[in-house]
Amino acid sequence: MYFPAYRMRRLRQTPQIRNLVRETDLLPDRLIYPLFVTHGNDIRSEVGAMPGCFQLSINNLVKEARELLKLGIPAILLFGIPAQKDEAGSGAYDEEGIIQMALAALKDAVPELVLITDVCLCEYTSHGHCGIVQGGQVDNDLTLELLAKMALSHAEAGADIVAPSDMMDGRVAAIRGALDNEGFTGTPIMSYAAKYASAFYGPFREAAESVPAFGDRRSYQMDPRNSDEAVRECLLDIDEGADIIMVKPALPYLDVIQRVKQETKFPLAAYNVSGEYAAIKAAAANGWLDEQQAVLEALTSIRRAGADMIVTYHARDVAAWLGR
Ligand code: PBG
Repeated sequence: MYFPAYRMRRLRQTPQIRNLVRETDLLPDRLIYPLFVTHGNDIRSEVGAMPGCFQLSINNLVKEARELLKLGIPAILLFGIPAQKDEAGSGAYDEEGIIQMALAALKDAVPELVLITDVCLCEYTSHGHCGIVQGGQVDNDLTLELLAKMALSHAEAGADIVAPSDMMDGRVAAIRGALDNEGFTGTPIMSYAAKYASAFYGPFREAAESVPAFGDRRSYQMDPRNSDEAVRECLLDIDEGADIIMVKPALPYLDVIQRVKQETKFPLAAYNVSGEYAAIKAAAANGWLDEQQAVLEALTSIRRAGADMIVTYHARDVAAWLGR
């Protein structure tokens, strides 16, 4: 049926009609808000390249978490900044480490909030790499033990979901084994399965103080030129026991999000990373973009591509804009 019998514009006439025929929703209960927690008291220090994002001490983190819950955000993703860094990243699996203490405080204050923890050594190692360095290389199998230890200590401290982001081979199986051995059979793993070696992580490394001291992460993170490989990464992680898989970054990889969803049918998270956030924030601050419209359009596109949930630094603003 062609024009003039069929007219596409009939269903675009009013907001009510447009809502009735819309194919994609963007609701706060699909959003995960990343937060950076640091030692000290009453700290709220803004990250230069991420306006609106802060390194928070535990007391301010708890305050923030209460507000997020009120806004309708169901989950946070926690990154820790340790007091000291060393070669083995020992702050990562210290019972009194920053994340472990933050989890205890949050579990107490906001038990309904889903607490997801990033499991990776890069914030905790003196060289800033995501694993143990031996002879100038990140050693995969030595790193697995430490990641398993880290994930377990998070679960013991109250993490609801653990999220490995290191990109070592076999880490999901190692973490699943460690959790199950200690009775945490019910703790889900959200695996950063297809994580690309991306320029868009720049601002995060300032926030998490995790710039690698030498080299880059291309020997463990994925090559941006590949997408068959992303599907293989996801299938491997699912085989090893991942409950939720993730594609990261999001906007430059919408094709990967779509493929992975179609080929796995698994619960899928997309990480709208720091550089994606910074780009919109900078353009908006210059008056070059309407921030609210640009953010809602960008996040809707990530949902439309196939992500079930979105990790985003815009989560708080979006929840406030959309109301409850
Ligand atoms: C840790 C980690 C990174 C991000 C999340 N977890 C950085 C990296 O791999 O260098 C990036 C998040 C962002 O840019 O928002 N491995």
